[in-house]
Amino acid sequence: MSIIEAKNITYKYPDGTVALNNINFSVEKGEIVALLGPNGAGKSTLFLHFNGILEPSKGEIYVDKEILKYKKKNLMEVRQKVGIVFQNPDDQLFSPTVEEDVAFGPLNLGLSQEETKKRVEESLKKVGMSGFEKKPPHHLSGGQKKRVAIAGILAMNPEIMILDEPTSGLDPKGASKILKLLFELNKDGMTIIISTHDVDLVPIYANEINIINHGEIIKSGNPHDVFDDIKTIREANLRLPRIAHLIEILEKKDKYKSSENYPLTIGEARRYFLDD
Ligand SMILES: Nc1ncnc2c1ncn2[C@@H]1O[C@H](COP(=O)(O)OP(=O)(O)O)[C@@H](O)[C@H]1O
Ligand SMILES: [Mg+2]
Repeated sequence: MSIIEAKNITYKYPDGTVALNNINFSVEKGEIVALLGPNGAGKSTLFLHFNGILEPSKGEIYVDKEILKYKKKNLMEVRQKVGIVFQNPDDQLFSPTVEEDVAFGPLNLGLSQEETKKRVEESLKKVGMSGFEKKPPHHLSGGQKKRVAIAGILAMNPEIMILDEPTSGLDPKGASKILKLLFELNKDGMTIIISTHDVDLVPIYANEINIINHGEIIKSGNPHDVFDDIKTIREANLRLPRIAHLIEILEKKDKYKSSENYPLTIGEARRYFLDD
């Protein structure tokens, strides 16, 4: 059952830019789905539709099969279910201290001081930011800010968490840590949607990939289906994961084409070298 769906979404910014053109995108409960696309493709614009921050020029958003309405009451409800971590943490963090920032969402939901305190503690622990409670967010590094922004959304305990480029600007270890955290949250039942252009990290974690370019979804499928379509990948100004690219260069593909996909991770690549 799809837990969130965009149906025929077109969005035009006030200056006339058509950022999304008839987008169809749906996510099943419990999945990790990636929206992959170059800069300017429309990733952030699409995500801002999922909890009603932007209202489409055409089309509808469905959350739990219910059509999204743009009245204040409906928006409050949907924002409890759908949490969005913005691309730039400075758009999200505004309180004088980390703990006040993370507490903002739960307090806004009307939770007690006691329950809020518990959620703040748990969320900061999950993202590895315990001990930073009293720090002003603007004193934190980029990666730390991202983790606090994630904690703020986690503290609201949403059914679906949407993260706009959660790994951009992070060092490789920081990026891998965040993806591991998302993987853990997903194991506990949370549906996760991320946007990225990091083609190396995505196949390790995502069940499904959607490629977006010029405001249109041009390919959807499991990581193998998507990365075997090299033409579409290149058209979207993306590249193959390093491992798949290596195999392509080694011209192994022809040999295996009938039965095999490109390997996308080091683990998958082993078979190419072991059976030679
Ligand atoms: N506030 C805005 N006003 C006008 N055009 C915008 C605005 N924000 C984004 N755009 C344009 O919409 C398109 C999609 O942008 P965006 O959704 O930010 O892409 P992405 O997140 O994939 O980099 C781009 O052409 C961008 O220039
Ligand atoms: Mg963006």
